[in-house]
Amino acid sequence: MSTILILNGPNLNLLGTREPTIYGATTLADVEQLCREAARPHGHEIDFRQSNHEGVLIDAIHEAGRAFKAGTLIGVAFNAGAYTHSSVALHDAIKGVDVPVIEVHISNVHARESFRHHSWLSPVAAGIIVGFGVDGYAMAVDALARRAAKAPR
Ligand code: DQA
Repeated sequence: MSTILILNGPNLNLLGTREPTIYGATTLADVEQLCREAARPHGHEIDFRQSNHEGVLIDAIHEAGRAFKAGTLIGVAFNAGAYTHSSVALHDAIKGVDVPVIEVHISNVHARESFRHHSWLSPVAAGIIVGFGVDGYAMAVDALARRAAKAPR
């Protein structure tokens, strides 16, 4: 059994009450449950985190790199929220460690304001899941599990 880190950035703690027409009524606790259910059939565990602080997210990516190297973690599903569009530091953090990171967005960022069209994470992501609502988190869990099953280390 290995772990999948689900990492959530700024304002995602407000899920359920924040702009429900865009992000829906599902809370972050519901998303955590969804991820645990998605991981169970694959026999993996979920480490579920949220932070509003860029440095905490950077530290979590570094920690994920160490865990991937140790063979205890198979990857990260990362919804970096607005830091997606601004953070060179998160780009560098992902680039600086060896761990597959799937970029997740609940909304279709490409159908929204132009400042959401650019992502600093996409060039360093193993894959991108955008616009499927919170189901995108379950898709990312599946994708990481399938990836690990194909390339066991
Ligand atoms: C988001 C999209 C971002 O543009 C926004 O800043 C968020 C949430 C999404 O999940 O759709 O906070 O990452």
